[in-house]
Amino acid sequence: MALDPFQHRVQLFTGKGGVGKSSVVAAVALAAAEAGHRPLVVELGHRATMETLFEAPAIGYEPTPVGDGVAALNMELDEALTDYIAAQVRVRGVAKRVVANETLRRFFYAAPAVAEVVTLRKLAELAERGEHHPILVDLDATGHARMFLSLPQVFEGLVGPTGPLRALLDATTALLRDRERTALHLVTLPAPLPTRETLEFHAHLAAGPPVGLGYLVVNRVPAPPLGEPESALLPELARREGFAADVALAERALAQHALARRCIDDLGAGIPLPRVELPELGTLRRAPSRAALGALGAALVSQLAEGAA
Ligand SMILES: Nc1ncnc2c1ncn2[C@@H]1O[C@H](COP(=O)(O)OP(=O)(O)O)[C@@H](O)[C@H]1O
Ligand SMILES: [Mg+2]
Repeated sequence: MALDPFQHRVQLFTGKGGVGKSSVVAAVALAAAEAGHRPLVVELGHRATMETLFEAPAIGYEPTPVGDGVAALNMELDEALTDYIAAQVRVRGVAKRVVANETLRRFFYAAPAVAEVVTLRKLAELAERGEHHPILVDLDATGHARMFLSLPQVFEGLVGPTGPLRALLDATTALLRDRERTALHLVTLPAPLPTRETLEFHAHLAAGPPVGLGYLVVNRVPAPPLGEPESALLPELARREGFAADVALAERALAQHALARRCIDDLGAGIPLPRVELPELGTLRRAPSRAALGALGAALVSQLAEGAA
């Protein structure tokens, strides 16, 4: 079944650190802009990855153009908290003073999941504003996603039936549960450990409260090191003098490739989502170029359009 990668307004990307989440988010953003949308990348966790990937100067708390039709913002917690408090007291100056007060600020951040709640509130507001579509959220880590998704339960027992916190909880829960507006994508690598973790995380999601899942990205998929005819020649080559090292190298590459394919098969068997395979770009000395990211984004879009595995 073909899947429109730009259908959902809010798209959350999760996966273990290092699997390529930020690269994939940047790639999808470039593809979205290419398709005529006005994408916004939201980065959590002060990593400034998008500054590097887009070679942009400081990206702030408001959407900042980073070129090629893409905008990005860094989710600043103090700013998000100020927004939230300002919405309650209706005077921004007061909210700013509250947040500037060290004691009060510590008090707010000590409450459970405040960071996540004010972040989600900001996302909901950006979605509502409608200036950007899709909004692509680079979730910092799997733990982040778990925290987001468990928010409604964390709060359910703590918040009364009415009041500002109830309104906030309802709004953020609605955003997370709305399969029309929101999708969660999984990013992983074709190696045993990330594969096992992704299968576990998917099982955890499937057992939890409903959230709309999008697609699975397997990043850094190695190309076959040798074609069939070349592989068939290896035993013959191994019998000849002087080729031992080359044969060993080729066999190791073949075994690695076979292992990657087995991981992808396992992921496919356990996770019933459209699957995208993005190629290994080789060991990069620096961040992938815009052109490389653009090519990854185009590959993702075309695989989904073809009705990815
Ligand atoms: N398809 C790819 N091929 C080669 N290297 C990649 C690929 N995707 C990402 N990388 C590299 O892997 C590293 C981690 O990528 P990044 O997007 O920062 O991951 P994450 O956000 O999940 O921590 C970076 O050095 C990045 O350049
Ligand atoms: Mg990252």
